[in-house]
Amino acid sequence: MKTDFLVIGSGIAGLTFALKTARKFPDKTITILTKANTDETNTKYAQGGIAVVNDTLRDSFQKHIADTLVAGDGLCNEEIVNLVVREGPERVNEIIAWGAEFDKNKSGDYQLGREGGHSEYRILHHKDVTGSEIERALVAQAATFPNIVIYNHWLVLDIITQHHLGYLVTKATPDITCFGVYALNLETRKIEKILACVTVMASGGVGQVYRTTTNPVIATGDGIAMAYRAKCRIENMEFIQFHPTALYEAGISPSFLITEAVRGDGGILRNKNGEAFMASYDPRADLAPRDIVARAIDTEMKRNGTEHVYLDCRQMDHNRFVEHFPNIYAKCKKLGIDVFEDMIPVAPAAHYCCGGIKVDESGRSSIINLYACGECSSTGLHGANRLASNSLLEALVFAHRCADDIEARAAREAGFFSFNESVPDWNVKGTLAPKEMILITQSLKELQQVMSDYVGIVRNTVRLDRAMKRIDLLHQETEELYKSSTVSPQLCELRNLITIGYLIVKGAGFRKESRGLHYNTDFPNRSNLLQPIVL
Ligand code: FAD
Ligand code: SIN
Repeated sequence: MKTDFLVIGSGIAGLTFALKTARKFPDKTITILTKANTDETNTKYAQGGIAVVNDTLRDSFQKHIADTLVAGDGLCNEEIVNLVVREGPERVNEIIAWGAEFDKNKSGDYQLGREGGHSEYRILHHKDVTGSEIERALVAQAATFPNIVIYNHWLVLDIITQHHLGYLVTKATPDITCFGVYALNLETRKIEKILACVTVMASGGVGQVYRTTTNPVIATGDGIAMAYRAKCRIENMEFIQFHPTALYEAGISPSFLITEAVRGDGGILRNKNGEAFMASYDPRADLAPRDIVARAIDTEMKRNGTEHVYLDCRQMDHNRFVEHFPNIYAKCKKLGIDVFEDMIPVAPAAHYCCGGIKVDESGRSSIINLYACGECSSTGLHGANRLASNSLLEALVFAHRCADDIEARAAREAGFFSFNESVPDWNVKGTLAPKEMILITQSLKELQQVMSDYVGIVRNTVRLDRAMKRIDLLHQETEELYKSSTVSPQLCELRNLITIGYLIVKGAGFRKESRGLHYNTDFPNRSNLLQPIVL
């Protein structure tokens, strides 16, 4: 298969890039590969909304920039923060023009929400199902372009570079180039070579590396892992954001999210004794940034020997709650929790990966012709901790920037639209059905357990060392399994998750300080390390 543009992922980042590019290049093909149904993405589950400066009477770019920098704890790239915040309103207006609807108040103005770390009400939302509304609008818009083709149930396995042509490729190789990908068609069970002039990684998050996560099962870090295998630069992987308030249901993963907007509207965290504890951890109390709230909850749970704390919504306006948060209201009701009578049991869950494929201000990775946008990328916006609702915004801004950069390059680089015809087919060997599924499922459980127990919200050197040893063993066993002929989607995802675990532990081990989302009890203070750790 050949395509001018290959996009891996059909969430907000991949679809937005495709839409932009389809307009710019009506005679070129844009192929989107996605490993599940089109809309099965992290995007679909986003609740709170998009942070963007809308009400310029109360809010300003400066305030949004300042909030982002404070949350990022010294590691944000200020230039990137500036451009994302300033370009944000135009990008959000574009998706509104494409049909995405956000809630308005009776006077017709946008009804703005507030979440932890925001000094103003600035979150555009669609009730508590913002992501599914955005995904709906983008998928519908993509369907109107004949040059966008979406292939569901294709699992991309590896990025093709000079390595596949028989050259030795190391991180120091100056011109590693992406020629396309190898991908497994999950319906025919065949592995195909797909050549592309430009490949855009928009493969989303890594939440499945932890036992408890808000991320759907597709979030196995494939894009970051395959980019790392191809010797691409990866950074900031130690900064994993745990959402403070995932609904606690023993043994259930993914966890259902209780959006931070509930606390923005007056929800209060309480421990098992009914005490509202957040004010004793931070003056911003329940609306402190996520890292602080998640750590406070973790401390309360450990102190009281409980598996969760509570979110108290009983004092909130009932009609407003049902109107704003119908999905949460219905979910709780289904579980027998009446949010106006009972407190909601909540616990932190792995939620967002602040690091990823290192890109520049145009979304270019360190590999030529490989771009990245959305959650799999590391743009410099989030630093050591993402400000709530900044990721949908980042995806929009960077998908646009990738498309603009490609347009400019295509105009000036002769032969931009060409394919490397010498790439060999995938070396087919073995079976596509896992013979020993138990080896894969058990290794996955072990990995998730290790990551949750040793590399969670609170870390220390002994735990990190122990995690690395366990991951090393899992890596060796899984590579043996991989080499001994079995290629299956489950095994490929396991391999990718092991790589993600390794990158998180490696980054965490290098960062001998506590900053943002990375908290190491052996190094409880910030150091002078004001730089990302690049792996
Ligand atoms: P995704 O939307 O995750 O899409 C990834 C795509 O890549 C999928 O189509 C997947 O199938 C595909 N893919 C992955 N690997 C492969 C492969 N190997 N081969 C083929 N396809 C592959 N952010 C906010 O800003 N505001 C919010 O309110 C908010 N709420 C959230 C609530 C929840 C429960 C979660 C989980 C996240 C939330 N986030 C929120 C974060 C935000 O939703 C994500 O960061 C964002 O949607 C990521 O978009 P994306 O396009 O990068 O990736
Ligand atoms: C939420 O709604 O609390 C999630 C927002 C986000 O992850 O940005």
